[in-house]
Amino acid sequence: MPVTAYAHTNIALVKYWGKRDDGGRGLNLPAVGSLSLTLDRFGTETTVELAPGHASDALTLDGTSRSGAELGRVTSFLDLVRQAAGKSDRVHVSSRNDVPTAAGLASSASGFCALAFAASRAFGLTLDERALSILARRGSGSAARSVFGGFVQLHLGTREDGEDCFAEQVPAALEARLVVVRCATGPKEVSSTFGMGHAQRTSPYFPAWVATHPADLVDAHAALAHGDLAKLGEVMEHSTLKMHATTFAARPPFFYWTPTTLAALAAVREVRARGTGAWATMDAGPHVKVLCAPADAAVVAASLAAVPGVLGVDVAAAGPGARIVRSGA
Ligand code: PMV
Repeated sequence: MPVTAYAHTNIALVKYWGKRDDGGRGLNLPAVGSLSLTLDRFGTETTVELAPGHASDALTLDGTSRSGAELGRVTSFLDLVRQAAGKSDRVHVSSRNDVPTAAGLASSASGFCALAFAASRAFGLTLDERALSILARRGSGSAARSVFGGFVQLHLGTREDGEDCFAEQVPAALEARLVVVRCATGPKEVSSTFGMGHAQRTSPYFPAWVATHPADLVDAHAALAHGDLAKLGEVMEHSTLKMHATTFAARPPFFYWTPTTLAALAAVREVRARGTGAWATMDAGPHVKVLCAPADAAVVAASLAAVPGVLGVDVAAAGPGARIVRSGA
């Protein structure tokens, strides 16, 4: 029986960047905790169907059959689910990213979260949210957060087996919007996995990133608890700029930003100088996401849409956690 799951994407306000040594066990443990907002826009719908008798898994992504490294990463993840379920069946995975065409916003967060949910159910496992978050994390660190809606923390944890490294929803005394500003088309040049590993190995700023990160999480939590959007925005910008600083100082260096990214950042500063609260964050790509109050979203979106080079803007609010859409034919 096919099982279909949907997961929304999430954007980190306090970033995850870098991994903890797990002795080569493939647990995918982060070097730092993180705090995100699950969006009500954008996500991935994934259907998993057991294919008994087949020799290998099959993957269709956005209507195209995939092989090579893409299929390999999915098969490695499915092996974890097979192991947990005590089964060996191969499966067919069909996945559709619900993002503007070629926007390069498709994130591994919603993808691996939807895959974890659909595959675990297809193999007969009923995982609670925590177990699902731990499983999704093994596919992609950010995927652990998409299990939950709203503001979400991924705990760093201390255990060697990673069982205390899971996400949880964080209650918040504020509402916010994220204006997603598309600054380029096409796939990004440096994957987040490679980028964070390279920065961790070669950037002298990486130790400072890890050392100063816990204070950012404390500040962000306090801002959420007190409904202080300006404080949240300020610490969010601080976190993303420190993350990107590690890439500038890596050897060789690398940059996720394009001239349009910088123009969008300048526009955010101008909006703020005019008295409207707006703060920017960027991930492992050129796009800019702008945090603001719900009442300011239209003004912020219009200002960013007018920046030369910007391809489009979308206003996102807090969205729900992942869900099973269909189970059975
Ligand atoms: O989940 P990954 O392996 O794609 O890494 C995500 C890294 C960032 O998007 C840059 C930050 C984050 O916390 O989502």
